[in-house]
Amino acid sequence: MRSMKGRDFLVTSDFTKEELTAMLKKSMEMKADVKCGRYVQPYLKGKTVILLFQKPSTRTRISFDVGVHQLGGHPIYLSWNELQLGRGETIADTGRTFDCYADGIVARVFKHTDLETMAKVAKAPVINALSDTSHPCQALGDALTIIEKKGKIEGTRVTFVGDGNDNVCRSLAEIVVQLGGKMTIASPRKYMPPEDFIEKVKGLSSQGASIDLTEDPVSAVKDSDVIYTDVWTSMGLEKEAEERRATLKPYQLNAQLMSSAPQDAIVMHCLPAHRGEEITDEVVDGKNSVVWDQAENRLHAQKGIMALLL
Ligand code: CP
Ligand code: NVA
Repeated sequence: MRSMKGRDFLVTSDFTKEELTAMLKKSMEMKADVKCGRYVQPYLKGKTVILLFQKPSTRTRISFDVGVHQLGGHPIYLSWNELQLGRGETIADTGRTFDCYADGIVARVFKHTDLETMAKVAKAPVINALSDTSHPCQALGDALTIIEKKGKIEGTRVTFVGDGNDNVCRSLAEIVVQLGGKMTIASPRKYMPPEDFIEKVKGLSSQGASIDLTEDPVSAVKDSDVIYTDVWTSMGLEKEAEERRATLKPYQLNAQLMSSAPQDAIVMHCLPAHRGEEITDEVVDGKNSVVWDQAENRLHAQKGIMALLL
């Protein structure tokens, strides 16, 4: 297996199944250590990691800050508009500047191409903390949660219900197919992921993996082991909120839709949840929900990523 030291983590498809499996193994070790009270594993001793955020964040921001700290490093949180970026300095010049001081860059941005630009100019690894098209750290944490709850991803049927072109849905589809799971996206035609993305995911397929699209949420959840949803209006799309609420209404994850799913299907959501829109209280707080395990696993997964890349 190729060394992962120094590589960027922009999308999971830049990594092989074997490499993703190694990241998951490292994440599990990190989690086991924390559970035994060993909080500090000094992988980042003496190192500094910049956390740059162009959009709001609760989980990602906190879990990276805590994760860098637990690995013995120093995190610096920066919000876009308080840097010269907010006054027009380019993303490339900002990336070169970060590279003068820091050993790693974690960035949440609107345009995915901004991450690519930063990765091109900076020698320090760039880790995607969410862009408009992907959320690979969420996907790795979710893979960890699925393995914990269902034993494996190979052959596991994962159904995403809602905005099929959502960044979380896209990264989930990539990792599930890469790791041999069966992915279904149930979404209105209008919000299906683009054809070129689906072709790319098909190309990642390992043995037993598949990706299917449907407009019917009821048939989609019927044989699912995992049912996943995310907000209908992602950050930056607020102007479309009303239209999205109307079009996506039949895709709400509620008790009625769950009555068509197997009894032991787990319910996942990356959070934040817009309760009463894409998911109801009874489902997000229900016995099948694993959303708090997901939130916790972000920390362990990101520590696994940083330990191997930085
Ligand atoms: N799931 C997730 O990335 O949450 P935050 O936006 O709070 O970071
Ligand atoms: N799809 C959501 C995910 C938030 C973690 C958004 O981009 O706003």
